[in-house]
Amino acid sequence: MIKPPKRYTVTAALPYTNGPIHIGHLAGVYVPADIYSRYLRLKGKDVAFICGSDEHGVAIAIKAKKEGKTPQEVIDHYDQLIRKAFDGFGISFDNYSRTSRKVHHDTASAIFKQLEEQGQFTVKETEQLYDPTADAFLADRFVTGTCPICQNSEAYGDQCESCGSSLNATDLIDPKSTLSGSQPVLKQTKHWFLPLDKSEDFIKEWILEGHKDDWKTNVYGQVKSWIDNGLQPRAVTRDLDWGIPVPSEGGAGKVLYVWFDAPIGYISSTKEWAEKNKIDWEPYWKSEDTQLVHFIGKDNIVFHCIIFPIILKNTGAFILPENVPANEFLNLEGKKISTSKNWAVWLHEYLTDFPDKQDVLRYVLTANAPETKDNDFTWKEFQTRNNSELVAILGNFINRVVVLTDKYYEGAVPSPGPFNDKDRSALDGLQAFPAIMEKEIENYRFRSYSQEVINLSRLGNKYLAEQEPWKLIKTDPERVKTILYTALQIAAGLSILSEPLLPFTAQKMKDMLQLNPLWDDVKEEELLVPGHALGTAQLLFQKIEDEEINNQLDKLKKNLANEENEPKEPAKKMISFEDFSQMDLRTGTILQAEKIPKSKKLLLLKVDLGSEQRTIVSGIANHYGPEEVIGKKVSVLANLAPRNIFGVESQGMLLMAEDQDGRLIFIAPEDSTTPSGLSIR
Ligand code: 2FM
Ligand code: ZN
Repeated sequence: MIKPPKRYTVTAALPYTNGPIHIGHLAGVYVPADIYSRYLRLKGKDVAFICGSDEHGVAIAIKAKKEGKTPQEVIDHYDQLIRKAFDGFGISFDNYSRTSRKVHHDTASAIFKQLEEQGQFTVKETEQLYDPTADAFLADRFVTGTCPICQNSEAYGDQCESCGSSLNATDLIDPKSTLSGSQPVLKQTKHWFLPLDKSEDFIKEWILEGHKDDWKTNVYGQVKSWIDNGLQPRAVTRDLDWGIPVPSEGGAGKVLYVWFDAPIGYISSTKEWAEKNKIDWEPYWKSEDTQLVHFIGKDNIVFHCIIFPIILKNTGAFILPENVPANEFLNLEGKKISTSKNWAVWLHEYLTDFPDKQDVLRYVLTANAPETKDNDFTWKEFQTRNNSELVAILGNFINRVVVLTDKYYEGAVPSPGPFNDKDRSALDGLQAFPAIMEKEIENYRFRSYSQEVINLSRLGNKYLAEQEPWKLIKTDPERVKTILYTALQIAAGLSILSEPLLPFTAQKMKDMLQLNPLWDDVKEEELLVPGHALGTAQLLFQKIEDEEINNQLDKLKKNLANEENEPKEPAKKMISFEDFSQMDLRTGTILQAEKIPKSKKLLLLKVDLGSEQRTIVSGIANHYGPEEVIGKKVSVLANLAPRNIFGVESQGMLLMAEDQDGRLIFIAPEDSTTPSGLSIR
């Protein structure tokens, strides 16, 4: 976009209402989106910051079944909990809607109908997995099985979370119904398919050529790998009774696929907001001078960069996102955050445990945000950043300025005398910060922006420490006026420039300083004029003691202990010794290895089994390069029926294990002299 946009539509991924939200959500999506939106508002821009609850889909239907509730009860409960958490952390949505609302059902149905009328779907009778015990077709999370690409045995019917592949339920090996545990059968059913393959050229031109330089490399890379693997038609309807009914002939008993309707939720939420405010929603989604930005986590990239844009484009009516700054994942104390294992810091619990420390978490999650790679949250770092950055640098500076002004001038801004080089350099330094921070925020580098907030506080602290007004007050009181006038301008600048990151603290600063300017005022204006009366001093941050941190760590450990003590169901059904003895497991050695072109996950291996050599395709390329595995001892399932993978006949399977961090490791003879071809018993 060459001309500056006239307005901004900023969306944050709609959270599923099948559980509460945790720090990973906040760090990955909502704090960055909030910083961006608050910044734009402070720049005087026209912004619609849009979100809402994602209330359809199989995950919600399953949760309801598990808890003996209706889906409506489940979504009502979590919608409330999630709203309160967002509110508690000051996430400043202009509108937070729900996809169960009429405005959304109407909007999603209308878009579906329009695409259908334009002939953009292929309607096909295909064989789908069906659970005769539960009398239900199985898609998405209703079915698990082994991923044909990486052999993860817990892949879902629409996606393998281990290797990130998008799947059709019928691709799964050994599928199992999550409703009854039984093995599904195939049954004919009709579905509406969006032929993504027909839009390959559009995605290539728009993203691979058009956004090579301005999109984050993690986002660009995922899109590229999808395109390299070739896009396939994708069913956008499901046989399910929870969701938006398919508004077409023959659609009875079927609903829209949740990933068809959810992103349209951004549009319906915008409509709801516009209606409340009596303005027109259309420019926010249809005008070329609007900048649309989607904030999401990395697991949502394909839906926001490929599927939703194809839907938007095919309607011929909507604009496309200017950027999709997806973040990677946040881990907690070295382990993957896990809802089922209760390994998480839940936002509603944090707000109870630390009722006035919302900004501390916002700060720590931003300073250590998973912007370019997965990152780790630790309670120790939380404590250190609070004590040595927020308390010792920012809080200390503001406190000194306000307390000294109170003490020497009864809380009124003093009139400065002539400025010396140090004063001028401090004031010039302040004026340079808005531009530095803008660059970071506009390029979605929120970590760096957070450090600039601390740098500006450092500048103020250093200035005060060097000028020592508390000493000069006795010998040169006139000079102290200039010093405090200067320090007060820096404090005022901080109250504005920190607001996107620390809205609660910025509000306290503004109350103390009695002002409310815009971002650009920092660049040129005298923010606080002589004689201006300040408000009452307040403490901004408090030291966090070891005990508070230890309590949080204990809480996490207890969750883990409970989880470990729970009797584990065997992951798979019992088999007899005879079944086991049918497997021909043998030791082997990898002789050759190469990447399979167009595949990110697969290696083509030549494995020596003593009396013969086998070609085996293995989904380990995300974990090992070809050169790393040559010569490796391996265990091989030698009598697995050959399968065709990426045009190659794979004649067996390597045995691998997944460690705690999700890395695949070889199950192999430890002794490097073990000969190949031994039978494993
Ligand atoms: O991954 C999720 O939590 C989804 N509910 C995100 C949906 S984003 C948008 F498309 F609605
Ligand atoms: Zn997989």
